[in-house]
Amino acid sequence: MPTLTAPSAAIDSLPISAANATFIKRANKLLINGEWVASASGKTFPTYNPATGDVITRCAEGDKEDINRAVAAARAAFEKGPWKTMTASERGRIVWKIGDLMMQHADDLAELEALDNGKTRGVARHVDLPLSWDAFHYMAGWATKICGQTFPISVPYMPGSKFHAMSLREPVGVVGQIIPWNFPLLMAAWKFGPALAAGCTVVLKPAEQTPLTALRLGELMIEAGVPAGVVNIVTGYGETAGASLAAHDDVDKVAFTGSTEVGKLIVNAASGNLKKVSLELGGKSPNVIFKDSPNLENAINGAAGAVFFNHGQCCVAGTRLFAEKSIFDQVVDGIAERAKKIKLGFGLDQDTQMGPLVSEEQLARVTGYLDAGRRDGAEFVTGGVRHGDRGYFVEPTIMTNTKPHMSVVQEEIFGPVLVAEPFADEDDLIARANDSTYGLAAAVWTNDVSRAHRIAKAYRAGTVWVNCYNVFDSALPFGGYKQSGWGREMSGEALELYTESKAVIVAL
Ligand code: NAI
Ligand code: MG
Repeated sequence: MPTLTAPSAAIDSLPISAANATFIKRANKLLINGEWVASASGKTFPTYNPATGDVITRCAEGDKEDINRAVAAARAAFEKGPWKTMTASERGRIVWKIGDLMMQHADDLAELEALDNGKTRGVARHVDLPLSWDAFHYMAGWATKICGQTFPISVPYMPGSKFHAMSLREPVGVVGQIIPWNFPLLMAAWKFGPALAAGCTVVLKPAEQTPLTALRLGELMIEAGVPAGVVNIVTGYGETAGASLAAHDDVDKVAFTGSTEVGKLIVNAASGNLKKVSLELGGKSPNVIFKDSPNLENAINGAAGAVFFNHGQCCVAGTRLFAEKSIFDQVVDGIAERAKKIKLGFGLDQDTQMGPLVSEEQLARVTGYLDAGRRDGAEFVTGGVRHGDRGYFVEPTIMTNTKPHMSVVQEEIFGPVLVAEPFADEDDLIARANDSTYGLAAAVWTNDVSRAHRIAKAYRAGTVWVNCYNVFDSALPFGGYKQSGWGREMSGEALELYTESKAVIVAL
């Protein structure tokens, strides 16, 4: 029978800080209305260490009833109470403080993230954490800068009348946020930051694979002074807790990051009360290397990083490599050489360069694609198999001799798997690079400035990198063309997702 008590012996044997060991033992509650409570059903679910498959602990399994309670708390906190009456400056200070507390607890948060997700401690500490606290700091500044406009209206059918017309930007209301497991804390930060800066209240449903850091963040948010009910965190499964949140009639907006398949379910679920929807979905991003690339070593390193960073579990992963014919072999060999040297292991071991995939399910999905590639006649330059027999490791993989119709070319694999194809010239390239149902990111490596701009304009993608990859910043809008999503997160544009515009016309 599931139990609310964590298996403390197992926790004590992990190479983690005393603070994290203590936290994990209390991470079996939901945050609703400022209180840490058990799930209404009393049920719990396991979260695993993906390096071993061992259960780390069991978290509260929230379901429809818990979502109902959390939404009711968020509604009450939105309609009345301190969040509504405090000034924008006070709100901004609280959001800033969340970022400060994340900085203060960065080592522990990074360790917890690495343990639950499988990524390395170094990546969690030096990539996920700074981006996450910066998302709060950046959005804190927006709290006092969300403005409407004035309009010189003419009202031609009311000659001689005079009006003062303006727009107000108001918080959209109660927001449901559903996030994935690849960057658990960062996705929480991208969602919470703008919602709180705008004055919304939130119910967050973290991914069932990685619930721990969101719960710790919940504690830090309370410590930062977020009033009761303003943030609610309901851990649990997508089909139950997630689906209830997306469909809830008293939720004004739902923001989702995850698979395109579930994105479509969210859109359907949201149609009941026509809540606003924003989606950040999958990708199959082209990464193009021309022979005039300014420094081929950099391009090869960039291409390896583009696909292998975070074990390929990145929505922007550069998974379709196109290299100009004359340098194709050199580029592929260079990436393969790097791939073979990557040391796989437990994310908390110091010399690990790549950890396991997040779950058994993800391991099965990725190895399923590798089998499909083999059946379809792709050639494996390196990798192509599971690594070891414990934990969810996959060897960094490169496939060549692929054809456009193959599933490994068309579909998001979400593992360290690259398909590489040569191209003859720019004209031949663009249509092939854009030949995807996705449009999240794209990159080009070239020394030709005009070509770089031409290609940046020709790409149908929300982000284009030139002679670089995976450059993110809170100040940059992020989101997808085509089936990669709706709306833009981060930057000032994210505020549009969390505000309504109200026209006010005053007769003079
Ligand atoms: P998923 O889309 O099922 O999960 C993402 C989030 O949605 C989780 O919190 C999950 O609990 C929730 N969810 C699942 N079903 C739901 C439903 N019916 N209603 C509401 N919420 C629901 O992704 P999954 O299964 O973990 O991964 C599958 C594939 O999705 C990956 O292989 C990858 O291709 C893609 N993916 C893309 C991500 C991105 O950043 N764009 C992140 C994670 C996965
Ligand atoms: Mg886990």
